[in-house]
Parts: sequence; C-alpha cells; structure tokens
Amino acid sequence: MANIISAEAEYGIVERNTKSQIVEKNRYENMSNIGFGLMSLMFKVRSALNPPKRLLDEMEIKEGMTIVDYGCGPGSYIKDASEMAGDSGTVYAADINPLAVAAVDKITQKSGLKNVKTVKVDGYHCPVDDNQADLIYALDMFHAVDDPKAFLTELHRVVKPDGVLIIDSGHQPAEEAKEKIVSSGLWKITEERDIFMRCSPLQ
Ligand SMILES: C[S@@+](CC[C@H](N)C(=O)[O-])C[C@H]1O[C@@H](n2cnc3c(N)ncnc32)[C@H](O)[C@@H]1O
Repeated sequence: MANIISAEAEYGIVERNTKSQIVEKNRYENMSNIGFGLMSLMFKVRSALNPPKRLLDEMEIKEGMTIVDYGCGPGSYIKDASEMAGDSGTVYAADINPLAVAAVDKITQKSGLKNVKTVKVDGYHCPVDDNQADLIYALDMFHAVDDPKAFLTELHRVVKPDGVLIIDSGHQPAEEAKEKIVSSGLWKITEERDIFMRCSPLQ
C-alpha cells in the first residue's frame, strides 16, 4: 500500500478499478505528459549538479561502440554518449514510453546527432537485433521493472557475448537488485560500486 501511495504521489499514474481497489499501472508506460515533464525538469537540475558525462566516463566507452541507453527517459545521457561513441559508433535510445522517444528525437535533431537511433520498447521487446551491443546501460529504472527475468533476458539477447551491462539499483536496495540479477542465471556481476554494477553475460 505504501508503495502504491508513493507511486501515486511521485507520478500520479495509479488508477482505481470498479471495486475501488488501487491498481498500479506500469509507472512509466502510462506516465502523463505532466509527469514526464516534471521528471525531465528534475533531470535537468540533476544534470546541472552532476554532469552525465561523469558517470559515462566510468563506463569505459570507446569510439565505434554500439551502445544501448535502456530506459533512456528524457535523454540526459544521449548527447555525451553520442559524442563518446563517435561517428563510427551507434547509440540506441530505448524506452517503453513514447514521450521519451519523442524527447530524444528532439535532442538528436536539435544537436544534429547522426549516430543516435531511438527505439520504442514494447513490453520486454526491444527492437534491436541479437548480439548488437558492446555496452548497455540501464540507469535509474531497474526498480520499475515488474518482470526482472524477462527484462534481463531481453538485455542478454541484445548484448554481444563479450559485451557489458551497466545497471544501477535505482530506487530499491542494492541487495534486492543484485538478487534479481544473480537469480536470472544470465548475468555475472563483475564489479560492484556505489554508482552501478558492471555485469557480463553468461553463455
Ligand atoms: C526514472 S527514468 C530514468 C531515465 C534515464 N535512464 C536517466 O537516468 O536519466 C526511467 C525510465 O525508464 C523507462 N522504463 C521503465 N521501465 C522500462 C522498461 N521495461 N523498458 C524500457 N524502458 C523502461 C521509463 O519509461 C523512464 O523513461
């Protein structure tokens, strides 16, 4: 109940069914324009205080990499990731919410980012071919994923056998996030830091 109330307070996107029970919808798929606008504003402040490039610098991005920004939201990391991947690289900006896709399209057009492709995730299907990504990063979103096994399976499909997943716990205890990753049987956590976990795909 507490979680539902906090989701309501945070995003205003829960609804009540005919029996007056509270039904939590996918928090992000159904986020209103206002909710998304507020989140975008908050992330602008976050980026001003803590530039996104600082975190990307920790990910060992190299020119020519294929990167997936999974759950890209309003695209706080896109411009820097695009520059770091360079002309020979590609950055897929993937999100379940069409408002996120539209926001990133706007950034790429405004900034002329030629190596960014937006993709709309459908449930747990991300329209990127198998074994494409050198790096997938999924930031501040893992807590919102209802079916972690399906989510981690999809990321495993998209990553190259020698690729890397960078994921943070988001708004859940680190132990809970770790347990989801380990119990998926698909990923090995190779590095644990305060800011994120680095994982390799198990074959
Ligand atoms: C809090 S925002 C974080 C955005 C961005 N990663 C950042 O840190 O600035 C979470 C984003 O994850 C997206 N998201 C949540 N669940 C998802 C899923 N299953 N697949 C793809 N995107 C998802 C949401 O739509 C939202 O845009």
